[in-house]
Amino acid sequence: MTKAMAATLVLCFCVLATVASGAEAAANSISSCLLSNGVRNFSLPASPSFAALVRSSIRNLRFALPSVGKPAAIVLPNSKKDLQAAIRCARSSSLAIRARSGGHSYEGLSYTTENHVPFAVIDLMNLRRVRVDSRSGTAWVEAGATLGELYLALGKYSNLSSSSSSLAFSSGSCSTVGVGGIISGGGFGLISRKFALAADNVLDAVLVGPNGDAFTRESMGEDVFWAIRGGGGGSWGAVYAWKLQLVHVPRNITVFSLGRTGPVQHIAKLMHKWQYVGPYLPDEFYVSVFIPTGTSSNGNLSMSFTGQALVPKQHAMSTLNQTFPELALDESDLSEVSWVESTAKFAGLDTVNDLANRRFEQGSYSKSKSDYVRSPISMRDVVEIIRYLSNGPQQGSIQLDPYGGAMARLDSGAIPFPHRAGNLYSIQYGVSWQPSDNDRADEYIGWLRSFYAFMGSYVSKDPRAAYVNYLDLDLGTNDWTNATDGARNGSVIHARSWGESYFSKNFDRLVRAKTKIDPGNVFNNAQSIPPLPQH
Ligand SMILES: Cc1cc2nc3c(=O)[nH]c(=O)nc-3n(C[C@H](O)[C@H](O)[C@H](O)COP(=O)(O)OP(=O)(O)OC[C@H]3O[C@@H](n4cnc5c(N)ncnc54)[C@H](O)[C@@H]3O)c2cc1C
Ligand SMILES: *[C@@H]1O[C@H](CO)[C@@H](O)[C@H](O)[C@H]1NC(C)=O
Ligand SMILES: *[C@@H]1O[C@H](CO)[C@@H](O)[C@H](O)[C@H]1NC(C)=O
Ligand SMILES: *[C@@H]1O[C@H](CO)[C@@H](O)[C@H](O)[C@H]1NC(C)=O
Ligand SMILES: *[C@@H]1O[C@H](CO)[C@@H](O)[C@H](O)[C@H]1NC(C)=O
Ligand SMILES: *[C@@H]1O[C@H](CO)[C@@H](O)[C@H](O)[C@H]1NC(C)=O
Ligand SMILES: *[C@@H]1O[C@H](CO)[C@@H](O)[C@H](O)[C@H]1NC(C)=O
Ligand SMILES: *[C@@H]1O[C@H](CO)[C@@H](O)[C@H](O)[C@H]1NC(C)=O
Repeated sequence: MTKAMAATLVLCFCVLATVASGAEAAANSISSCLLSNGVRNFSLPASPSFAALVRSSIRNLRFALPSVGKPAAIVLPNSKKDLQAAIRCARSSSLAIRARSGGHSYEGLSYTTENHVPFAVIDLMNLRRVRVDSRSGTAWVEAGATLGELYLALGKYSNLSSSSSSLAFSSGSCSTVGVGGIISGGGFGLISRKFALAADNVLDAVLVGPNGDAFTRESMGEDVFWAIRGGGGGSWGAVYAWKLQLVHVPRNITVFSLGRTGPVQHIAKLMHKWQYVGPYLPDEFYVSVFIPTGTSSNGNLSMSFTGQALVPKQHAMSTLNQTFPELALDESDLSEVSWVESTAKFAGLDTVNDLANRRFEQGSYSKSKSDYVRSPISMRDVVEIIRYLSNGPQQGSIQLDPYGGAMARLDSGAIPFPHRAGNLYSIQYGVSWQPSDNDRADEYIGWLRSFYAFMGSYVSKDPRAAYVNYLDLDLGTNDWTNATDGARNGSVIHARSWGESYFSKNFDRLVRAKTKIDPGNVFNNAQSIPPLPQH
């Protein structure tokens, strides 16, 4: 060993030792603060259960790798008061705050920081009560509840009532997604063409702000209340609970899942026609398209349609037969189920009681991106798109979600989510892979990026729009370097480059709301809304 090498080694040890003792000091500091404030449920890196707890809701395994920085503490509040103390203690220990509800952030933003900034995860898994008020048709739900827990509570409630309709809530289809994250970013689902987004159906909220104070709609003010309904999670504070407007759906609704296979031309023809059907069906209907990459050995591709209609089977059959004869739907493809059964079915669960299960099957490694389509893509171009997909790696896909209906009737400034009238459908691009295949991660992500570049000429432009719940750090990042980077000159201009993709003209109002509720930028992440500098 040369002298220089030895010196380098010594230097490395020193740096590691400093980092370790810094993290340890922060852990000790937050630990004593939490204890003296009566917060009992938290875990530190030295605890044997710490790693499993951090990992418990990591959906995207890319952010569970050893190279990704781990928190200095994970706190599990049992009450609003605990949540307030957790925020105050993280701050007094100079730790950045990451609130986590369902852990389904596509880019892991609820449990990671940029530039190895030390942080605490405040995980809301123990805050998951749902309180339904049938008379007013509303519910208070704690932010740590999953969609499955919320849907099951509504299903149980509807079961007990003798009403001719069922209570439902308009939100996403995956049962383990947290209401804390999904509502913060909008929340699109199978009844959004009828009842709009989850965030459009929020009546009130309790938000714990940067000083640990709790605000309601009235005390936070309308700008902030506007911002938290779709302006993205992690920028405003920690939402403790949402008050939701529930909706009434028929006790029986109609559902179907349909697979089709064929050569490029056949798949292209169905996708091309769908563009003229999906966004224009009556509001009660949702028909989406999913097309995986690759072909079978004979060169055929596959695609599938997911359908739901808030009408009886016969009615659904006749509407779909008339508007989309190419689908060649058969009456036996359709079934009638209750709304809550349909949520279990489309979440891929066997029974409604599985909706209560917060644990998902092993997560996978994945990368996603999104787009909006404002005018139908021509048949010739659809053929090229399908050809591109047919040559992709296994486990790539596109999902097309129909807009129109109530989605198009709301004003693009009603809440921060701007993708209203004029948007026919969203595209979600995804690629995922198993742990055994992780050495090919760069290849898979590279394919997704090339495909996205290829799609550029067919989708919205100036800016090319994206959905904040389908978070995509390729669009740009804040690059914060410490727990609260304050308000820096230049942050807003920088954030505008992706902020306008997510929020269009609503971006500036979000910056104003941020400056009001969190001028010191305590709640930040790689794509959070920055505050204006204070003079
Ligand atoms: C399998 C899967 C299916 C999906 N399906 C849909 C769908 O059908 N429709 C749809 O619209 N989206 C869907 N999404 C996207 C989903 O809405 C987002 O990933 C959402 O952010 C997840 O919320 P979460 O609470 O589970 O995630 P988390 O990772 O816990 O949080 C996401 C972000 O919100 C912040 N946050 C979390 N809790 C709070 C809180 N209480 N207060 C303030 N900020 C908070 C986090 O800090 C983070 O920045 C899906 C995602 C996955 C992985
Ligand atoms: C903390 O919460 C977790 C999750 O609910 C639970 O399993 C654990 O028992 C709790 N620990 C304490 C000390 O309350
Ligand atoms: C509703 O009641 C039926 C019949 O008792 C039962 O099978 C079903 O699981 C219940 N659904 C819910 C959501 O509780
Ligand atoms: C391929 O698709 C065509 C057209 O849909 C179909 O007739 C044929 O049976 C398919 N081949 C296989 C092996 O699935
Ligand atoms: C579907 O439409 C065709 C032609 O319009 C008609 O002949 C057929 O009876 C319809 N089928 C159903 C089940 O409505
Ligand atoms: C609801 O659907 C079930 C299952 O298909 C069926 O048995 C029942 O008769 C339907 N109820 C009504 C009111 O249509
Ligand atoms: C935090 O960031 C600001 C702005 O970049 C910098 O001035 C400050 O020194 C940093 N603080 C710490 C503790 O690193
Ligand atoms: C930001 O810029 C303004 C002038 O444009 C200046 O007065 C102020 O000091 C700057 N603030 C910081 C934090 O650099």
